Amino acid sequence: MAVAFKPRNLLIFGATGAIGSFITRSIVSARSEFERIAVFTSPPAAGSSKAAKLDELKAKGVDVIYGSIENEKEVSEAYKGIDTVVSALGRTAILHQIPLIKLAAASGSVKWFFPSEYGTDIKYNESSAHEKPHQGKLKVRAYLEEDPEVRCSGLAYTYVVTGPYADMYYAFSGPEEAGGFDVKAKRAVLVERNNRVSLTTMKDTGDFVLAALRHPETALNKALRVNSFTTTPGEILAEFEGQTGGAPWTDVKETSLTRIRELEKESDHVVVILRRIWAEGGTLYEKRDNDLIGNPQTDTLQESVAEYIRENS
Ligand SMILES: NC(=O)c1ccc[n+]([C@@H]2O[C@H](COP(=O)([O-])OP(=O)(O)OC[C@H]3O[C@@H](n4cnc5c(N)ncnc54)[C@H](OP(=O)(O)O)[C@@H]3O)[C@@H](O)[C@H]2O)c1
Repeated sequence: MAVAFKPRNLLIFGATGAIGSFITRSIVSARSEFERIAVFTSPPAAGSSKAAKLDELKAKGVDVIYGSIENEKEVSEAYKGIDTVVSALGRTAILHQIPLIKLAAASGSVKWFFPSEYGTDIKYNESSAHEKPHQGKLKVRAYLEEDPEVRCSGLAYTYVVTGPYADMYYAFSGPEEAGGFDVKAKRAVLVERNNRVSLTTMKDTGDFVLAALRHPETALNKALRVNSFTTTPGEILAEFEGQTGGAPWTDVKETSLTRIRELEKESDHVVVILRRIWAEGGTLYEKRDNDLIGNPQTDTLQESVAEYIRENS
């Protein structure tokens, strides 16, 4: 594709989902930079929070297209005049993106596709190919990079790889021993206290997608490995303690990598697998890619912990 390409007409899948809401908010904050921003979504229940989110988007000049991602006619119709597709579909819909990519390649107008990534680096090292949570996203990447029709169409791709969301990393979201921080009870479980981990806030994830859209010259056909900051569970605990009165939290336990590997054998829980990958260093890079897309301003550990305490107290 010509390097002069600039995205002008966008379509977002999953715009009202957990990360899609942040991505859409960031993109809509730059409404004037695009001719058209549309979202493709299943119809909301009347009076639901999703209906309210869609009304808000309409008021900000976003076109809302109702349909099913499984209906080829509806998707093809929605692609008319669209040059860039941003997908933020949920984990259980990852493989549904393959027909969406096929239709995008056949559309004649779609030039750039962001599949739903926004997480752990699925090609971090050789063992990444065998990790269970990566399998769907690996198939999507292979389709984008290797399918003859897709390659022939010239459809470009970008993977926005953020590592874990700070906002979710702080929460207990799986088995207790897999870690978390409970603000109300001043209780924490640290997985390898001193091992470094890079985190991205959900707000920054949206800003990174917008930054990638603003920098096609460096973002096209790349996995962008970006993050907000790098820290350790021990530093996060100290930040929580400092921001909740200053006294050490008394209920603090630690889980070793050896233990989390055992836990993985016992439960095969996706949260356990991901936390093991993160504690092993699977979010660390010699150099992150923030500067390739204009180094957007990012949240700090302090800001993200403050926000988490506000939301969870
Ligand atoms: N880095 C991290 O810590 C982290 C954490 C969680 C998720 N992620 C990643 O972020 C991406 C988006 O995940 P999410 O949690 O934000 O998604 P989500 O909120 O579960 O779902 C996003 C949207 O996907 C659409 N969808 C349509 N069919 C679906 C189906 N069968 N199953 C699920 N969703 C369906 C829905 O859109 P409509 O309402 O328009 O139908 C939904 O709002 C994924 O790639 C996931 O792996 C990363």
